[in-house]
Amino acid sequence: MAGKLWSRILNPGGGLRYHSRALRYRNSRWQDYRQQLASWLEEWTSAAEAASTDLLLIAPSAGHCLPSTWLGSFRSVAAIDLDPMARILFRRLHGASMPAPVGWIASDVFQEWEALLASHPDHAVLFCNFLGQAAECDEARAAEWFARLPMSLTGRRWASFHDRYSGELPTKAASALDSPHRADSETLLRHFYEKGISGELTEHELPPIFPQDRPYRYWSWPLAPDQFHIIEGCRS
Ligand SMILES: C[S@@+](CC[C@H](N)C(=O)[O-])C[C@H]1O[C@@H](n2cnc3c(N)ncnc32)[C@H](O)[C@@H]1O
Repeated sequence: MAGKLWSRILNPGGGLRYHSRALRYRNSRWQDYRQQLASWLEEWTSAAEAASTDLLLIAPSAGHCLPSTWLGSFRSVAAIDLDPMARILFRRLHGASMPAPVGWIASDVFQEWEALLASHPDHAVLFCNFLGQAAECDEARAAEWFARLPMSLTGRRWASFHDRYSGELPTKAASALDSPHRADSETLLRHFYEKGISGELTEHELPPIFPQDRPYRYWSWPLAPDQFHIIEGCRS
C-alpha cells in the first residue's frame, strides 16, 4: 500500500518533480504559455457559459497551468488524478477562486473511465495535458482506452491540450499557431524552431482519436531550461 502511494507521488508524468518545477517556473518561464492556454480555454467555455456548466478535469495535477478565475466561473468542478498531492496544491493555488470545493477522485483514469462519465453525465470534459503522455504511462492500456474514447465522448462538450513534441531543442519566441486542421510536422517545426537547428525531438504519437479536419491551436511550453514542449489544443 505504501509502495503504491509513493509510486503515485513520484509518478513520472506528474508528482513531486513536476510540482517543484511548476512552483519554480509558473510565474516566470511558463507565464506566456499559461496566458495562451487561458485564452484558448476562455474561447472554449466563456465565463457566461461556465456559470451553467459543470467541469470534469482529467489529470490536472494541481492545475499549475490552469487559470483560477476561469476555473472559478464554473457551476462546479470535479477532477481525477492519481497524485495525492494534487488536491492539496490545487486548493492552495485555486481555492480562493472556487465557489465550492472541487470533487476529487484519486483514481486511475483508464480503470475508472466509464464509471467516471456515468457519475458525471452532464460535465464538460477537459483533458489536462494527459493524452500525449497517456501512452507513456501504460502503452497497452492507453491503446485500448484510446479506441473507446471517441465513442464515449459522443454528445459531450470536451477539450484537450496535450504534448505534440518535446525535447531539449529550444523553441523560438513565437506566437500561438492556429490551423484549420491538425497541423503537419513541417508546419510546426517551421513555426516553432529556428531555421537550420538540429537535434532530437520526441513526437508524442496520438492515435487519430479526434477528427483531423477541425481547428487546432499550438503553443510552445518552455517547461525547463533543458526541456521544451509543443502543445496541441483541440476542442469540441
Ligand atoms: C503533466 S501532469 C498535468 C499537468 C497539468 N495539466 C498542469 O496544468 O499542470 C500529468 C498528470 O497526470 C496524472 N496521471 C498520469 N497517469 C494517470 C492515470 N492513469 N490516471 C489518473 N491520473 C494520471 C499525473 O498524476 C499528473 O498529475
